[in-house]
Amino acid sequence: MPPLSRSALVALAPVLLFGCGGTPADPDFTCDPGATARTLTAEVQAVFDARCKSCHVSGYAYGDYTTAQKTFENTTGKTSYLAAAVSGSSLKVVDGANKALANSSLWLKVLGGDASNRKGPKGEGTLGAMPNDGTVLTADQKKLLKEWICTGGAQ
Ligand code: HEC
Repeated sequence: MPPLSRSALVALAPVLLFGCGGTPADPDFTCDPGATARTLTAEVQAVFDARCKSCHVSGYAYGDYTTAQKTFENTTGKTSYLAAAVSGSSLKVVDGANKALANSSLWLKVLGGDASNRKGPKGEGTLGAMPNDGTVLTADQKKLLKEWICTGGAQ
């Protein structure tokens, strides 16, 4: 095979740099292989206590986040209500089994929901950003939620 010409190398550069998809992996959807294991009980429920349970009260239709046990029951492995709008959707609130940030409505919403143009893997709309009060989580709170999802979403 002859050596690649300069123009061929230029044309190939995006593939060489970013792989066959042509775009770099989105860091917001990429789990750090060294992520620390986080559980609701030890650390993550504190984020829900501080930033979510003012609305996500006991019995709330969109998820009761009042205790670590309730938060677990209403997030990890639970099908998102947003899945109903898209045929074939398996969007979860937290896809702990697959450690899949992109298939977790909670993470898509924390990233900004529809306003951020984030969609689920089947194009599911993600509606409101969370928390839904015009504020955003701190970088540390986001990191805790990300590590929790990336290490299985345990109670
Ligand atoms: C000011 C009220 C309010 C606060 C605070 C709030 N939420 Fe929500 N949440 C809502 C409402 C209203 C909905 C339903 C509408 C929507 O999906 O945008 C919702 C829906 C959700 C859903 C969708 C559930 C599903 O089945 O996919 C998730 C996940 C969620 N919230 C997570 C959170 C998290 C995490 C926090 C804290 C970081 C939070 N919310 C804080 C009001 C709130």
